[in-house]
Amino acid sequence: MDFKAQSGIYLSRIEEGIERLTTPVTTRPAILHEAMRYSLKAGGKRLRPILTLAAAEMAGASLDPLPAAVAVECLHTYSLIHDDMPCVDDSDLRRGLPTNHKVYGEAMALLAGDALLTEAFRILGEGYLYQPSVGQKLLHLLSKAASSRELIGGQVEDVLGEGSEISPEDLDFIHLNKTAALITASLEMGLTHAAPCPEDVTAIRRAGRAMGLAFQIADDVLDATSNAEALGKSAGRDASLGKNTYVKFYGIEASVLRVKELSDECEEALSRWGERAWFLAALTRSMASRTC
Ligand code: IPE
Ligand code: IPE
Ligand code: MG
Ligand code: MG
Ligand code: MG
Repeated sequence: MDFKAQSGIYLSRIEEGIERLTTPVTTRPAILHEAMRYSLKAGGKRLRPILTLAAAEMAGASLDPLPAAVAVECLHTYSLIHDDMPCVDDSDLRRGLPTNHKVYGEAMALLAGDALLTEAFRILGEGYLYQPSVGQKLLHLLSKAASSRELIGGQVEDVLGEGSEISPEDLDFIHLNKTAALITASLEMGLTHAAPCPEDVTAIRRAGRAMGLAFQIADDVLDATSNAEALGKSAGRDASLGKNTYVKFYGIEASVLRVKELSDECEEALSRWGERAWFLAALTRSMASRTC
């Protein structure tokens, strides 16, 4: 099986899972569920749920990881809706469409984000009702990654750091928490479906840290070098908001090099699974040259 074909299989499972496991748009209040669907279905890359499905398959899980994958994508989509709001990054375009608050207004975007965050945990709770021990581990991994200690902590320092001098360690804190935490959790949640040993968990966390950092550095490079049409989201926002990014600290060339180094580190961590890691290894390599 080649990379493209396998990605297509994962993507169609994820789209089917989103349709089946998230609350129907006709549910009252319909406008809220419509706003939630609008951002969920706008067409992201689905990186995080792909990581969950691929990690579960790599580890030989027999339990279906789809509810976890859909939960991760709901949570990620909420973080994007709130990230785009005028009080945060003030972005007009996301996933090729006007941002949620541009279409539904700020109050509805705020509430649709709140609802998608909660939806993620509802889907986990229901999805693993009969596997409570796996379910409990998944709830812990997702809530920890999304918490004030990780994703929100990173977002807060990202916002507070706008226009001010921070240290390279602070920059790593932001990237590790706002982005790498959820990417690591997506992988570890997949692995959790196969009862991993402590050494597996250590290796997947190392892979996730490197992949997450690489992903956010590549995002910083693309924000500085690409355009809204190619990205499907507003470009050039980091410079205009005075964000602390790898590009601002180290320049484009060194950032591109760092992405490559981190991708190599991720592949090395994945080598624990040998041939079974082929898909995640290929995904890691593709990240180093991504254009959106
Ligand atoms: C955007 O994530 C936010 C970052 C952490 C850089 P993605 O680039 O994965 O966005 P979608 O899901 O494809 O829209
Ligand atoms: C967003 O980082 C990370 C989260 C949403 C948690 P960015 O602000 O760089 O993401 P984009 O560039 O708007 O997608
Ligand atoms: Mg942001
Ligand atoms: Mg942003
Ligand atoms: Mg960005």
